[in-house]
Amino acid sequence: MILVTGATGNVGAQVVRAVAAAGAPVRALSRSGTADGLPPGAEAAAGDLERPETVRPALSGVTALFLLPGYTGQRQILADARAAGVERAVLLSSSSVPGGEESNAVTRYMMEAEAAVRDSGLAWTFLRPCAFMSNALEWADQLTKGDVVRAAFPDVRAAVLDPYDIGEVAARVLLAESGRYDGEALALSGPEALTAGERVRMLGEAIGRSLRFEGLTDEEARADFSARMPEAYVRAFFRFYVDGTLDESPVRDTVEKVTGRGPRTFSEWAVAHAAAFGG
Ligand SMILES: NC(=O)c1ccc[n+]([C@@H]2O[C@H](COP(=O)([O-])OP(=O)(O)OC[C@H]3O[C@@H](n4cnc5c(N)ncnc54)[C@H](OP(=O)(O)O)[C@@H]3O)[C@@H](O)[C@H]2O)c1
Repeated sequence: MILVTGATGNVGAQVVRAVAAAGAPVRALSRSGTADGLPPGAEAAAGDLERPETVRPALSGVTALFLLPGYTGQRQILADARAAGVERAVLLSSSSVPGGEESNAVTRYMMEAEAAVRDSGLAWTFLRPCAFMSNALEWADQLTKGDVVRAAFPDVRAAVLDPYDIGEVAARVLLAESGRYDGEALALSGPEALTAGERVRMLGEAIGRSLRFEGLTDEEARADFSARMPEAYVRAFFRFYVDGTLDESPVRDTVEKVTGRGPRTFSEWAVAHAAAFGG
């Protein structure tokens, strides 16, 4: 049995899908424990990663665990996993970890999650993706009001990655024979480095609308971010994308190496998610 945390999210749902498609038994954990949208054969489980005692029952019979980073319960959950006979943990981490600054709040929680998994005594693999294509879902609300998308950091290029491909890689690693990916940190990217403006143009083509992109100034971006996240995270994203401490433009061949197929393009992601943008 494979246990997938964050199973209703962009990435977790794709891990559940890919494990089920490979024919393996999978348990999908979220706080609500909803079974909505699960593939046939997958079972739902409720548990809160901030409250390890609520996750414990879901560890029964599990051989490998897909873990989201950044929850206070992570060390206890990993200890409980070991005690329950779980052999392997695959951690969703981030491209910001290699060479990253511990003073950066986003990088720090990823580093702490990696350290917790490393210390757990389980066999482990880290997935270090760059920014997700699904971050563009944030634009859906603007597109209900008009054809303009305003977004931060207009000059930054990122080889954004489809959560579908994270799911494909995670399933291969979770189901691999023992030792195949143990102790590895897999850097994952999409197929091309794109600016936000280029992504908006591709999204417009996918949903049949002529969209216009406007970059936010740094002051506007700071105000926008401050309204929806803690200050430490606002500073973290400005360190990444304004000070340039994170370069997510390199295109990696890891998805192809692990799955035998190249990563999906942003245009493909946009077509698949057109309904979220009214397309
Ligand atoms: N966005 C990026 O570009 C990026 C890049 C690198 C790494 N990451 C990391 O990837 C993670 C996952 O991203 P995503 O887009 O898949 O997130 P998401 O769509 O927001 O999904 C989060 C999932 O976690 C579950 N969850 C939230 N709080 C929980 C809790 N206390 N206990 C148990 N489950 C909980 C949610 O379900 P319920 O609400 O039903 O519990 C949901 O299934 C991010 O949190 C981030 O750490 C993101």
